[in-house]
Amino acid sequence: MENLHISLRLKEIAKYISKGSYFADIGSDHAYLPTYVCSKDATAKAIAGEVNQGPFNNAQDIVKTYNLTKQIDVRLGDGLNVLQTDLPDTIVIAGMGGKLIERILTDNLTQTLQVNKLILQPNIDADRLRKWFVEHDYHLTHEEIIEENDHFYEILVAEKVMHENVYDSSIDQAKQIYFGPLLLKKRSAAFLKKWELEKINLKRIINDMKQAKQINELKLNQFKTKLNWIEEVLNNESNN
Ligand SMILES: C[S@@+](CC[C@H](N)C(=O)[O-])C[C@H]1O[C@@H](n2cnc3c(N)ncnc32)[C@H](O)[C@@H]1O
Repeated sequence: MENLHISLRLKEIAKYISKGSYFADIGSDHAYLPTYVCSKDATAKAIAGEVNQGPFNNAQDIVKTYNLTKQIDVRLGDGLNVLQTDLPDTIVIAGMGGKLIERILTDNLTQTLQVNKLILQPNIDADRLRKWFVEHDYHLTHEEIIEENDHFYEILVAEKVMHENVYDSSIDQAKQIYFGPLLLKKRSAAFLKKWELEKINLKRIINDMKQAKQINELKLNQFKTKLNWIEEVLNNESNN
């Protein structure tokens, strides 16, 4: 069988799935992630959850093609409703908006909170999920930002078990939640490029808002604060 080729984004996510893990990939589409991980690690087991029939069928087909039906259970259902009593040690939710990911985690909160590791890759609104971690006693352990096909993807890993506090007490927590405490420390090329583009976008939005007949001052001030933060970070000024 030919090796499965998956995106750099999914390969990065796969790095955070421990050897021998029992993990659930929620919103699994073609089950690319579980297929990739389980074909490299015979001791891993996975649930591939999908709410839509088409992607569910695709996931089943791939799992059968790669002879992984003993390791990967493809289940049709909304979010964490596909989980049963044998809860996984890790949940992956990737390729969706932060708001939808938050909804999926919160809808079945009792089950979510029994799972040690969450690996989330929101396409937008990563800050919502960092805030969610803080509010639900999950501790951020790793953050990655990658650029692929002109898109920036943030990967957040959090665990129930505390390793170390990654938030810096000398920096405003809201600012760290916005940028990601670890990404802010690392200042990778992808991170700086993302925020350079975001700065241009935000300046345009602020200018458009100022032209409006009725100005939403609250929203405008929120955007201005974000723009100030971005400029400080890009100029590498004080992070306070
Ligand atoms: C853009 S794809 C991402 C697929 C894969 N996780 C990835 O990162 O490449 C999003 C998938 O999530 C599924 N999805 C959306 N909402 C869902 C939900 N509430 N429960 C389970 N799957 C969901 C969609 O049907 C779709 O297949």
